[in-house]
Amino acid sequence: MQTELVKIDRANMSLDIIKKAGEILRAGGLVAFPTETVYGLGADALNEGAARKIYAAKGRPSDNPLIVHIADMEALDQIVDMVPEEAKALAKAFWPGPLTMIFHKKECVPYGTTGGLSTVAVRMPSDEIARELIRQGGGYIAAPSANVSGRPSPTTAQHVYEDMNGRIPMILDGGPVQIGLESTIVDLTEERPVILRPGYITLSMIRSITGEAEVDRGLIADDSSVRPKAPGMKYRHYAPKAELQIVEGSMEQVVSYINGKCSGSPRTGVICTEETRERYLGGNVKCIGSRKDELSIASHLFAILREFDEDHVERIYSESFDTPELGQAIMNRLLKAAGHQKIDVSGWSGTIKQRKPV
Ligand code: TXA
Ligand code: MG
Repeated sequence: MQTELVKIDRANMSLDIIKKAGEILRAGGLVAFPTETVYGLGADALNEGAARKIYAAKGRPSDNPLIVHIADMEALDQIVDMVPEEAKALAKAFWPGPLTMIFHKKECVPYGTTGGLSTVAVRMPSDEIARELIRQGGGYIAAPSANVSGRPSPTTAQHVYEDMNGRIPMILDGGPVQIGLESTIVDLTEERPVILRPGYITLSMIRSITGEAEVDRGLIADDSSVRPKAPGMKYRHYAPKAELQIVEGSMEQVVSYINGKCSGSPRTGVICTEETRERYLGGNVKCIGSRKDELSIASHLFAILREFDEDHVERIYSESFDTPELGQAIMNRLLKAAGHQKIDVSGWSGTIKQRKPV
C-alpha cells in the first residue's frame, strides 16, 4: 500500500485534505493524525472491521482496547451509558485536552474497539486538525498512538512514517506535537476516580476538581502481582533497542557515575539536561530539555529514544526526572522504557572517579 504523507498548514488549514482523510475513515480505512499528546492512528470507532485494521497495522494485542476520540459533548452521550457528575466536571475543566475518561459503554460501541471490555475510553482532543478530522470522519474515531506496538509513541509525522509506511493510506503532518506524552487516563466506573495512566493532567489537577482521586495500585506497587487496570500498561512499551538504565542521586553523583561508565564510547548513550550537558565528557550525549521547563523534557523523550535506535547505541544511561508535576508521567514512560532498571547512586562517596577532560 502506498502511504501518502500530507502536510497541513495550521495557520491556513486545508479543509479539502481533511475531507479526503475523513472519507477514508468513513469508508473503514486508517488515517494517522496529530493530537496535542502524540500522533494517533485513526479508524471509525463504531465499525468493528475498521478497528480490527488498527490492530493489524500496529501488531497490537487484541485485548488492548482503543480510545474513542470525539469532538463535542453530544457525541459522549451517544456512546456511554451514563455520565457521572465527576466526569461532567472533569470534562468542563479539561476537555478539549489531554484527558481520557473511562465509562460503561453503550451497545453501539463494538467489542472490537474496546478489546472485549464493557467499558470504553473516551477523549476529546484539543488539536484543531484532530477535531476537524473527527467531524469529517463521522464523529467517533478510535485512535491508539500511531507507532508499531512496543515502539516509542510518535511525536512527529516522520516517526509515524517510519513505523507505518506501506501499512496505511494516509498520514496528516501537522508538525511536532505539543506535549509528547499520551493522555492521562481516569477511570470513572469505580466509586472514586482512579488514574490508570499518568499524563499532563496530574493527580492534583484531578483532585482539585473531584476532591477524591487515586492512582491505580498496579502502577505504583513494586509487587508485580498487582496488575495495572489499563490493559496496555502491562506491556513493556517504548523499549529502545539498547539497554537503558536510569541513574538516581544528587546531580554531582549522577554525572560522575555516568562519566565513569561511559568511557567516551560513542556506543554509549547519555540522556542529560541543559543543566548538566557541559559536564559529560564523552559518549553519545543527548539533551532532553531543561529542568526548569518540564514540558521540554516530556516532549523530547520519545524522539530521543528513537534517535538512539538510529544511532545503534548499545547502552543508554539516563538522568532521573522526578520533576514536581509532569515528573510522574515522564518517569512512568522512562521506567517502562528501561524495563524498570534504575540505580540509586546517592550512597556513593567518591569511589567513581571522574575522567579528566580531553
Ligand atoms: O494521548 C493519547 O491518549 C493517545 C492519542 C492518540 O489520543 N492515544 C493513546 O492510545 O495513547 P493508546 O492506545 O496508545 O493507549 C490507550 C491506553 C491503553 O493502555 C489501553 O489499555 C487503555 O488506554 N484503555 C483503553 N480503553 C480502556 C478501558 N476501557 N479500560 C481500561 N483501559 C483502557
Ligand atoms: Mg500507545
